Amino acid sequence: MTQNAQRQAALRALLADFRVIPVLTIDRVEDAVPLAQALVAGGLAAIEITLRTAAAVEAARAIAAQVPDAIVGIGTVLNARDLATAREVGARFALSPGATPALLDAAAQSPLPFAPGVGTASEAMAAMERGFDIVKLFPAAQVGGIGMARALGGPFPDLRFCPTGGVSAANAAEWLAEKNVLAIGGSWIAPAADIRAGAWDTIAARAKAARALW
Ligand code: 3PG
Repeated sequence: MTQNAQRQAALRALLADFRVIPVLTIDRVEDAVPLAQALVAGGLAAIEITLRTAAAVEAARAIAAQVPDAIVGIGTVLNARDLATAREVGARFALSPGATPALLDAAAQSPLPFAPGVGTASEAMAAMERGFDIVKLFPAAQVGGIGMARALGGPFPDLRFCPTGGVSAANAAEWLAEKNVLAIGGSWIAPAADIRAGAWDTIAARAKAARALW
């Protein structure tokens, strides 16, 4: 198997096992481990730590080192440097809101399973040209929601989506029922305010409810 095929197969298997991925914005490193423990306890072991805060990198490192059952993904990967950071902290996968040529080229050279972000047909084509057939549909609700995923399924029947942006407890089941949706992501399971409040039981309960969806 080529590196490209291995990377895509690994991502496909991961998203089949964990169809709901909490998108996490962590402000304080000390919240990282109890947060990841709550999510794992609720059954959502694959998590996306967004590179949006000063604490994100150390938070990801702490989870990778101290919560062995968590499968750490790095999100908000904007360039090759972020992708290198994801590998360096021990991430098992990475995601981006977009798909610039430079990022796609870097990701194509990396063994790290990676889902670029697409919101248009041309972005989907750019991703597929470089071997990425599993993409984040972002921002999913704003680019057309389930109707957009279905419409892109016409010309791109082999493309698979992980929608994020506007996915919630209210529409999660509907998204998961779509045949070209492998997994969904969102902040609703562990919103930043709940993380700041240390509401681990609430987060674990939301994770458990989400885990019951597949
Ligand atoms: C993001 O990258 O911000 C995610 O898509 C989360 O979006 P949400 O807050 O609408 O779930």
